Amino acid sequence: MKGKKRLLTGLQASGTLHIGNYFGALKPFVDTYEDYESMLMVADYHALTSIKDASLLRSNIFDVVKDYLAVGIDPKKAIIFKQSDVLEHTELSWIFNCLVTVPFLMQAHAYKDKIAKGLEANAGLFTYPMLMAADILLYDTDVVPVGEDQRQHVEYAREAAMKFNNAFGDTFSAPKELILEGVGTVPGTDGLKMAKSRPQYVIPLFGSKDEITKAVMSIVTDSSADRPEHVYAIHKLFKTEEELEVLYKEKMGNYKDLKEALIEDIDSYMSPIRERRIHITDDEVKKVLEDGGKRAREIAQKKMEDVRKKIGVTIN
Ligand code: AMP
Ligand code: TRP
Repeated sequence: MKGKKRLLTGLQASGTLHIGNYFGALKPFVDTYEDYESMLMVADYHALTSIKDASLLRSNIFDVVKDYLAVGIDPKKAIIFKQSDVLEHTELSWIFNCLVTVPFLMQAHAYKDKIAKGLEANAGLFTYPMLMAADILLYDTDVVPVGEDQRQHVEYAREAAMKFNNAFGDTFSAPKELILEGVGTVPGTDGLKMAKSRPQYVIPLFGSKDEITKAVMSIVTDSSADRPEHVYAIHKLFKTEEELEVLYKEKMGNYKDLKEALIEDIDSYMSPIRERRIHITDDEVKKVLEDGGKRAREIAQKKMEDVRKKIGVTIN
């Protein structure tokens, strides 16, 4: 039996992180990871569903790991690794693909949304949730900190675990999502969900003060309300509601001042993190991934030995 519970999350290496990624997934991880056996993954094979450019994917991988280190995750206290360094992820995802049905996967949001937009989905996007199930279940993960949009994917992981256990005997435990109230869906500057796929509406996590200013000034405001809701919704991430109450009362109707206050609050929150990130080198990233990959493989390989025996592909 393991001692501490396992915490695991991952971010796709699919572009610059924004404050939605931070408050939805990274900060909940940072705040709790020392109480668990923690793992933080770079989902590079998931990013391949959308990126077909080797130098871009490669630089995204470096960027995400630098982001992890800059927000304060200590690689001695958490296993930081990339998905493609542990072949067991893709192996186990194949096994799960053989257990779930096509109609079940057709209900997954990422796939459904793409089809609804009239776009063509590749088969990797279609089976995406089973790769994510493998990421989670390989390590007997108990808790998965994510944003609201990933709730269904964690449910799919539970379903995959159940299907496997029913077919081959008790092997995987059921993971639970950790979605913090108030940060599960951080809105973008247009008021809709902030997303990497709509870069014109994000506030970048490591943006310069100029970039933050540009993004905040573009937040859509509704001139009929006392309080600019979209500004407030983002401000709430950086200040307590009590602190904001005073400010928003004093500056009622003065959207420009409120936006300027928000810029200052984001900048003073982020500048130490931004500063730390500048000093992280590519070599440091390589070392972290090498060490993390080794540690992750040890756990995954052991688990897969059991899985292979259970499904009947081990003949000795
Ligand atoms: P992704 O950008 O899809 O790689 O997402 C990485 C993590 O950030 C996942 O846990 C998402 O649920 C979370 N996330 C992405 N966008 C938001 C958002 N607007 N609000 C809260 N969490 C988010
Ligand atoms: N699908 C997640 C996202 O887009 C990223 C991810 C891949 C993940 N594997 C994971 C998150 C395992 C948590 C656990 O945000």
